[in-house]
Amino acid sequence: ALKIVTIGGGSSYTPEIIEGFIQKKLDGLLPIKEIHLVDIEAGKEKLEIVGGLAKRMVEKAGAEIEIHLTLDRKAALEGAAFVTTQFRVGLLPARIRDEKIPLKYDLIGQETNGAGGAMKALRTIPVILDICKDMEELCPDAWLINFTNPSGIITETVLKHSSIKVVGLCNIPIGIVNKIAKLYETDAANVSVEFSGLNHFVFGKNIYVNGKEVTREVIEKIKDGTEISAKNIPNFSFPADVLDAIGMIPAGYLKYYYTREKMLADCKRAAAEEGTRGEVVTQTEKELFELYKDKELAIKPKQLEERGGAHYSEAAVNLIDSIYNGDGKIHYVNVRNNGTLPELPDNTAIECNCVVTHRGALPVTVGKLETSIRGQISLMKAYEELVIEAGVTGDYAAALKALTINPLVNDSDKARAVLQDMLWANQDYLPQF
Ligand code: NAD
Ligand code: G6P
Ligand code: MN
Repeated sequence: ALKIVTIGGGSSYTPEIIEGFIQKKLDGLLPIKEIHLVDIEAGKEKLEIVGGLAKRMVEKAGAEIEIHLTLDRKAALEGAAFVTTQFRVGLLPARIRDEKIPLKYDLIGQETNGAGGAMKALRTIPVILDICKDMEELCPDAWLINFTNPSGIITETVLKHSSIKVVGLCNIPIGIVNKIAKLYETDAANVSVEFSGLNHFVFGKNIYVNGKEVTREVIEKIKDGTEISAKNIPNFSFPADVLDAIGMIPAGYLKYYYTREKMLADCKRAAAEEGTRGEVVTQTEKELFELYKDKELAIKPKQLEERGGAHYSEAAVNLIDSIYNGDGKIHYVNVRNNGTLPELPDNTAIECNCVVTHRGALPVTVGKLETSIRGQISLMKAYEELVIEAGVTGDYAAALKALTINPLVNDSDKARAVLQDMLWANQDYLPQF
């Protein structure tokens, strides 16, 4: 019988993961006995509302899973088999600061990229390290399935600084596969894409649909701006000549890097008109929680699909299924590089196709990186390593170097100014500084 713990259980995404677990239990794939949704005082009300819906969902489905709601993380972790993390340190107000402060310095304001992404990492690293310490004591053999962003950086922090087995997740690769399946009116199982890169900096190549190589054809199909990734990224088309030149499908987040000026202009426009994404999501979340309160509701509501992370449970729950049952399926996840991308250090995290067994996720090598991408990824990885160093030790110099080389900052005067502003604004969440 499995005990599963979800940290950040008050998330509006929780009905999705619960729906996934219910299905796996009903299909006889995961013998889940109890799910513990863990949150903190600040998230108590959300936890109670979404936890109530989770209980109704389980009951309606007849899944016989106990749902426990708690603020006591240690008690929840004791004896857990799988721990999933979906918490947001500082909640949405901190995200909105990450999005707005960089704009003051004419820099892109985004929750996982550039200065905002670095700040989210610095807030999150102390918490994930605490969670790992608790796990080392209370469930040392459990798998940590991390969703908390920046997912690649957080996964690498765990790989480097704890003994806990971890796999990092993102819905972008699976979103690309699903979208290609839709373009070809076929099932996602008939689509094969070789991903390699870093989280939110990943490229898909060698695309096959029903056994036929279609990479260039897919590139043609998305040139008109057909949105291939998540709901939270502005729907501009990727420059067609760049798509031709690299011959791969870039994650939507790469628009921030390849078309930085246009994306910066759009960040500014959005902040002035509809609000930053964090402000928009604050409203979406309010509406979702109003729905969740409805005692008649016992399924995951359709409106959840408006969130950028929609369908993440598909990735999380199937991954847990593959680890538990050792089925050897391919998943697109964040793992230790181990020489898979020889350009990057072995002990860092990469996002790529992995074969998943009882032993975890084993990366598949898909060949060398194209030259321009090798250059960019080496730089991005150095940035990530420096953010981790700063997050773990509170070293200001490491943080300054990280922002100085980040392609969305790339100027030491701006890096210093935005870093000092952000460190000041986040002091409640930075015990290491
Ligand atoms: P959210 O704002 O709803 O936060 C989720 C919960 O975390 C809240 O209830 C909050 O109270 C709780 N929390 C905050 N600090 C905590 C702590 N120290 N311990 C336990 N719980 C804590 O956030 P969300 O929109 O559901 O997103 C949650 C996280 O998942 C974010 O980091 C987000 O970036 C990430 N996310 C990742 C992906 C992906 O592709 N990897 C997709 C969606 C969301
Ligand atoms: C995408 C990303 C996630 C991110 C989410 C944001 O799916 O892969 O890592 O957290 O979108 O969505 P939101 O609705 O919160 O803007
Ligand atoms: Mn993601």
